[in-house]
Amino acid sequence: MKILGIETSCDETAAAIVEDGTTILSSNVASSLEIHKKYGGVVPEIASRKQAEYIIPVLTETFAQAQMDHSDIDAIAVTIGPGLMGPLLVGVDTARTLSLLWNKPLVPVNHLIGHIYSGFLNENRYPTFPLVALIASGGHTDLVLMKGHGDLTLLGSTRDDAVGEAFDKVARLLGLPYPGGPEVEKIARSGDESVYNFPRPMIDTKDFEFSFSGLKTSVRYEFQKLETHTPQQIADLAASFQKAALDVLVKKTIRAVETYHARSLLVTGGVAANQYLKKLCTNAVNSLTTETSLFIPPLSLATDNATYIATAGYFLFDKLALSPNDHIDQILNLRPNPALQVNG
Ligand code: KG4
Ligand code: ZN
Repeated sequence: MKILGIETSCDETAAAIVEDGTTILSSNVASSLEIHKKYGGVVPEIASRKQAEYIIPVLTETFAQAQMDHSDIDAIAVTIGPGLMGPLLVGVDTARTLSLLWNKPLVPVNHLIGHIYSGFLNENRYPTFPLVALIASGGHTDLVLMKGHGDLTLLGSTRDDAVGEAFDKVARLLGLPYPGGPEVEKIARSGDESVYNFPRPMIDTKDFEFSFSGLKTSVRYEFQKLETHTPQQIADLAASFQKAALDVLVKKTIRAVETYHARSLLVTGGVAANQYLKKLCTNAVNSLTTETSLFIPPLSLATDNATYIATAGYFLFDKLALSPNDHIDQILNLRPNPALQVNG
């Protein structure tokens, strides 16, 4: 089964064609990130306009790359939320229109659930259930328990900033460009992570919630206390911040793995690009007494793109697909409806 995936929840306009949930036939991502850089974060109005500009060229390129036309695909999967309303509308309206025009079923996909399916995009190595997923990006810090396809429970989320957002804000404070995660990681390599003992918010609470805003404020406080800001001091601040943030992420994630006897741990989202996080997760999983396999998709699949939306559309087809007639006279609810939502 070949599914066209469409993802437009934020500043990426993405389309992909994936066969049987595991084989990528083509994938394209256009991004308005460069324009947002000078504002230090995504500007929703600009992101919406760019979505409208990019969507058709991205779709055209995706079919051309796969050397296919619309008669070759079996269904369309589209992100319906969570995300920015304007950008989401562009993808959803395009998908609905194409579904009607081409008479193909439409699979509405929750963006969060989509991220989890980046771990399934591999013909040779699949996660097994129960699975704990950590979705760590600029928009989310979520721990999800998945017992089967369509059987998901949200264990906890951040109460304030997402972890990637904290990286971005600390980077900005330290005078580094946006997006800050890769920059913080880079300069942290020449820093000493033990110089500042930053707080590890909520690390010992029994729940699976996170909070990163206090940590960010502590970094600001230490930064302001310094009379000079030498490259070494900046590197020490970055390294100490990174260690504190990752310690919390890893400790709570591993606790979820232990609590739910997870057989697989999946770490995805932009922050999964962080090599230090990968190392800490690998060490933590290796020291577990249970057999747990760690899945960290390559960066090209972990950050926002449409391959995992198509993959989610494949595995959830039976549960979620709508025939063109089913959505012809209804406006798709852009907020995830209960049938799609990760239940708390
Ligand atoms: O998944 P993504 O591309 O977009 C969404 O936010 O949905 O994630 C981007 C986020 C940004 O906050 C960025 O700073 C962070 O992921 N990030 C990193 C690293 N690479 C990207 N954070 C820490 N270390 C990295 N190496
Ligand atoms: Zn995302």
